[in-house]
Amino acid sequence: MAEGTVERTLVLVKPDGVRRGLVGEIVGRFEKKQLRIVAAKLTMVTTTTAETHYAEHKGKPFYPGLVTHITSAPVFALVLEGKSAITIVRAITGATNPQTAAPGTIRGDLALGVTPNLIHASDSPTSAEREIALFFEPSEFSQYDRVGAEYA
Ligand code: RTP
Ligand code: MG
Repeated sequence: MAEGTVERTLVLVKPDGVRRGLVGEIVGRFEKKQLRIVAAKLTMVTTTTAETHYAEHKGKPFYPGLVTHITSAPVFALVLEGKSAITIVRAITGATNPQTAAPGTIRGDLALGVTPNLIHASDSPTSAEREIALFFEPSEFSQYDRVGAEYA
């Protein structure tokens, strides 16, 4: 079996996750999978940043509500690094609609609404690069060894 390429991906615990006190639960699932947190912060998303981040959805019926939601309270933004991180984080996150997301996934276990579905996760290497640059400066990243890295 081929080892995955090491990737970085952007995760946002959305305002519903922060307000419900689920930051620890959500980040813990990624940590236990042995992904490395290389940057993290609690931050308010401005309308300008929200519109840039969600540009691909402009014009869709849910877009206005999405921008309102993501700017309504802080997000907990983090960059995760690891083998095949983009695909793995999307799998742990689950399908967009929590009502059909598989049990065992974050959305399947913990969410019910579609727009307040707890998490954003980058969906491709191109998106990840763009989104990471939108939320983090190079100076906000840390390098360190994880304990147990020999098993990851
Ligand atoms: P995300 O970008 O947040 O990781 O989620 P995703 O790829 O699974 O879903 P996407 O199609 O990119 O949609 C972005 C976000 O828009 C909200 N949404 N609401 N009410 C609706 O029909 C609807 N559809 C999408 C969700 O918050 C979704 O995560
Ligand atoms: Mg998406």
